[in-house]
Amino acid sequence: MNDGGQRRYGPLGSALVIIPTYNEAENIRPIVSRVRTAVPEAHVLVADDNSPDGTGKFADELSAEDDHVHVLHRAGKEGLGAAYLAGFRWGVEHGYGVLVEMDADGSHQPEELPRLLTALKGADLVLGSRWVPGGRIVNWPRSRELISRGGSLYSRLMLDVPIRDVTGGFRAFRKETLEGLGLDDVASAGYCFQVDLARRAVAAGFHVVEVPITFVEREVGDSKMSKDILVEALWRVTGWGLTDRARKVGKLLGRGHAR
Ligand code: GDD
Ligand code: MN
Repeated sequence: MNDGGQRRYGPLGSALVIIPTYNEAENIRPIVSRVRTAVPEAHVLVADDNSPDGTGKFADELSAEDDHVHVLHRAGKEGLGAAYLAGFRWGVEHGYGVLVEMDADGSHQPEELPRLLTALKGADLVLGSRWVPGGRIVNWPRSRELISRGGSLYSRLMLDVPIRDVTGGFRAFRKETLEGLGLDDVASAGYCFQVDLARRAVAAGFHVVEVPITFVEREVGDSKMSKDILVEALWRVTGWGLTDRARKVGKLLGRGHAR
């Protein structure tokens, strides 16, 4: 985690910006076009869960117009985590060296991507962060801010990860980092997927860097945040925290006996 200064990082391979979508018909065209303008060399993968509003069909149209745009059609709504796992797999199989996570609704501004990618030159994982100095939120209801700040704080304390914005979803991974996270046994479906990946990256000793971002609340469409997603996050984070602690206590006791 802290060896970022000494380590040498290999060159960044080509980047794939993965955009998971569920009912983002009005957002998909503008967001893809903003990404294409902001980082013209990068490719885009839309991971659509068979959105009833036709997002997948619109994404196909964009893909037909532009060879840098790809679409992964999934059978049905399985959550953000499953969509990203499928997107990562697709990206690694197709030879991308950098895999980026980004929301479709404009909350993550493509114009900030170059800053994330520059930071990745000296890191294993870059997190776009609302809760570091310079980070901002625009138009987010106070209730959502409290949930998000509370969720980050709870995760930080419970999991002992030195990260301010643990739940954010604007991130850039080196391929090697993803490969070192043991993604085969990730079960998180909802937004706790983000917490899961962050804690795995810290546990694996990767150098994680937070870069301030301005998070802008969506103007069109609806958030998919739900009570189920919150409940899943709460019980999983608590479970991970208790398991870590039990392991640490076990180690301490074991050492005690050996003496
Ligand atoms: N394929 C797929 N399947 N995409 C999904 C699903 C799903 O089941 N659920 C949500 N998405 C997509 C949305 O279409 C959007 O592009 C992105 O995931 C984020 O969903 P939102 O519903 O807009 O999330 P939010 O604004 O409430 O939450 C934001 O904050 C969370 C907490 O910090 C996001 O930044 C999350 O990534 C973050 O965890
Ligand atoms: Mn959103």
